[in-house]
Amino acid sequence: MASTHGAEVLVASNRGPVSYEVRPDGGAGSLHAKRGGGGLVSGLSAIGPDANAVWVCAALGDADREAVRRAEGGLLPAEDTGGQRVRMLDIDAGVFSDAYNGIANSVLWFVHHMLYQTPLEPVFDAEFRRRWASYQAYNRAFAEALAEEAADGAAVVIQDYHLALAPRMLRELRPDLRIGHFSHTPWAPPDYFRLLPDDIAAELLGGILGADRAAFLTRRWADAFRDCCHAVLGSPGIPAGTRVGVHGLGADADFLRERAHRPDVTERMAALREEIGEGRRTIVRVDRTELSKNIVRGLLAYRQLLDDHPEWRERVVHVAFAYPSRQDLAVYRDYTAEVRRVADDINASYGTEGWTPVVLHVKDDFARSLAAYRLADVALVNPIRDGMNLVAKEVPVVSDEGCALVLSREAGAFEELGEDALTVNPYDIQGTATALHQALTMPAHERAERAKRLSAAATALPPAQWFLDQLHALDENRPG
Ligand code: F6P
Repeated sequence: MASTHGAEVLVASNRGPVSYEVRPDGGAGSLHAKRGGGGLVSGLSAIGPDANAVWVCAALGDADREAVRRAEGGLLPAEDTGGQRVRMLDIDAGVFSDAYNGIANSVLWFVHHMLYQTPLEPVFDAEFRRRWASYQAYNRAFAEALAEEAADGAAVVIQDYHLALAPRMLRELRPDLRIGHFSHTPWAPPDYFRLLPDDIAAELLGGILGADRAAFLTRRWADAFRDCCHAVLGSPGIPAGTRVGVHGLGADADFLRERAHRPDVTERMAALREEIGEGRRTIVRVDRTELSKNIVRGLLAYRQLLDDHPEWRERVVHVAFAYPSRQDLAVYRDYTAEVRRVADDINASYGTEGWTPVVLHVKDDFARSLAAYRLADVALVNPIRDGMNLVAKEVPVVSDEGCALVLSREAGAFEELGEDALTVNPYDIQGTATALHQALTMPAHERAERAKRLSAAATALPPAQWFLDQLHALDENRPG
């Protein structure tokens, strides 16, 4: 297959570094590009413009599709991408929706985060099989684009559960390439993974095993993957040609500290202080409104704290930012409504004239998140299960006075931060309430000391390093 751009390094992910919206004030057809951040963006900028890299991603909506139609030579305009070469794939909207909403987010995400209410779900019926065919087609579209873009022997790093089949498909098209797959989620233990139909479980594992290297955020998820390979595929599990690796992803200290002291953040701190009220303590959480983030139980634990320790009434505020996510799925819309309902209920039951116990914001605002980080006395990070959780790493870095961290033992970040956090079982409301009380009463010097150590651990593996380590590990597969 002919190479279009002869890239030496390729990244593939569902969500790319840029997304488009039609600007209401820009007249007909006016597209506005919005750039994202994260580990891959930092990683690709770290290897520099001479590295000859291409990022392959999917068009997520109509505006993205329009941008693809306008793109010359298949690449998005450099001014939209910050100079990065990005090939966005215009996959049929129905196929994309089946693959992204119907399989990746409704099945694979649920399996790895163990989110099913098993008496009634999952149900693997004919409709599931139809969607699975779309998931295969979506993965094939990525594999074909990568095969076209890659130079001889290029390194390809394929990201996440959306693209579990792509490594094997790409291997078949281009045996010369060095292929890595990286999972940003947890990996399910075998008993849970085997909820999937046997052939699908084997296809998923076989897809990832098409890579030279399958990598994970923590040892725990890598071990679970190995265990699933043994349980589903039998001995030897992982074939000799595939290695399994671990690359923790840390917070970007320099970026966060600089960004958190810009004027827009200071402005939002003033507005938040107004909402919180003079002299009150803050328990801060910032999440996508994501089922696995356990926001509702966090609110219930806060209510328990107010019951068990009435001395905190009027003296503490739970600042909860729950930003919209995956609103195409009814279960996410229902969960979002439940978060609001429980927050409103706490405010109605406990609030007073001058005290709103829960300050809930649902509109995504990065500067306001950083403002909340700076004001945090306590950070609450209590996911049911989480690949890593960067909020747990970011708040201790940014908080002005040093915050105490209440952390779920089910977050990947727990492996690195557990020693200086207050650990919780995310299902245990009473235990979480007790941990919140301990965090609020922790002496200031202890809190500051712990935050310093948390911050050091959280920034030990900066995003650029995380990416470069993956690339270097693939170098070991270079012939000769
Ligand atoms: O954790 C997996 C992941 O794909 C992250 O990389 C990302 O932050 C998150 O899920 C968001 O998912 P989506 O692209 O569906 O909003």
